[in-house]
Amino acid sequence: MTGIICGTGSYAPSYVMDNNEIATMVETSDEWIRERTGVATRHIIKDETTVSMACEAAKKALDDGEVKPEEVDLIIVSTISSNIILPCTACEVQKELGAENATCFDLSAACSGFVLAYNTALAYLSGGVYQTALIIGSESLSNLTNWKDRGTCILFGDGAGAAVMRAKEGRTYLPATHSDGMKGKALTCLSRHTHIDAKRMKDPEYYMQMDGQAVFKFAVKKVPEVVNEVLSKNQVKKEEIVWYILHQANSRIVEAVAKRLDEPIEKFPMNLQEYGNTSSASIAILLDEMKKSGRLKSGHKIVMAGFGAGLTWGATVMEWG
Ligand code: COA
Repeated sequence: MTGIICGTGSYAPSYVMDNNEIATMVETSDEWIRERTGVATRHIIKDETTVSMACEAAKKALDDGEVKPEEVDLIIVSTISSNIILPCTACEVQKELGAENATCFDLSAACSGFVLAYNTALAYLSGGVYQTALIIGSESLSNLTNWKDRGTCILFGDGAGAAVMRAKEGRTYLPATHSDGMKGKALTCLSRHTHIDAKRMKDPEYYMQMDGQAVFKFAVKKVPEVVNEVLSKNQVKKEEIVWYILHQANSRIVEAVAKRLDEPIEKFPMNLQEYGNTSSASIAILLDEMKKSGRLKSGHKIVMAGFGAGLTWGATVMEWG
């Protein structure tokens, strides 16, 4: 028994902030940001919230997968930036969808979150515990961003992506995942509520803070390692992989991973040019775009890989349903 993705959906706020707008807030330029990160624009919430975006992406994924809300047994929302603490975002999604039979919880693992949500749902489905799962990555990182810090504010964006998974006969591929809390200082954020707490807004520690070079080095070393690990664990050859769907942090990271794996960059789709880094939403949004544009075909073997704060990193292999 295994689990396959049968529907996807995504939501991006309508407000688009380009690099020139960022250059009105901090000393930077469109050219610098594109060259160092690949990002040209990002979507930023105005009226939307982490909950509302999760609900929109989830509705689209259920429609796409032709799954009724009452069929859903499990809802996992991966987020580090929910607008509410209680109830959890997943329960809010349940309420909005009317998914009355679902067990719901949130998962916090930053940019590795969607891969870990997928692995968690897969374990339940392949273990026969549940039949249908809805996994969502939803982030309002603009609320955690210090718009005076040019080392971070250029990178991030808001959005949500979702996937519906069904239990199905077939092979379950084992994931490879790791964490290193000892290196957690490389990327931190002390509060989820910088946007509503005027006093804390003056203290940079309460926003996302990052040692950019340390995170860059970590990603280009650990992501190829964990991809090789997941392939060898499942005895899958690189040549069998049609797509590597990596967390969308930075085009230079994706290019460096492709090079270290000695795989063509064409196997590494990117949409970070439009969205920036949307943390746990990024892989889900990209999956949805790839499905809608017909690039994912039944039987395609795909690697998904996430990496980020914690530090956390992981990869998983799947066969498209
Ligand atoms: N615009 C213009 N100049 C900038 C700048 C900006 N937005 N940000 C930094 N600089 C300057 C620095 O002050 C420094 O100037 P100096 O040489 O006079 O001191 C110079 O550019 C180089 O800074 P550096 O930090 O070495 O740049 P970099 O090449 O490492 O790029 C990042 C910075 C953040 C783009 C890069 O480190 C990165 O992408 N890291 C990974 C981040 C990431 O993906 N995090 C999320 C993972 S989930």
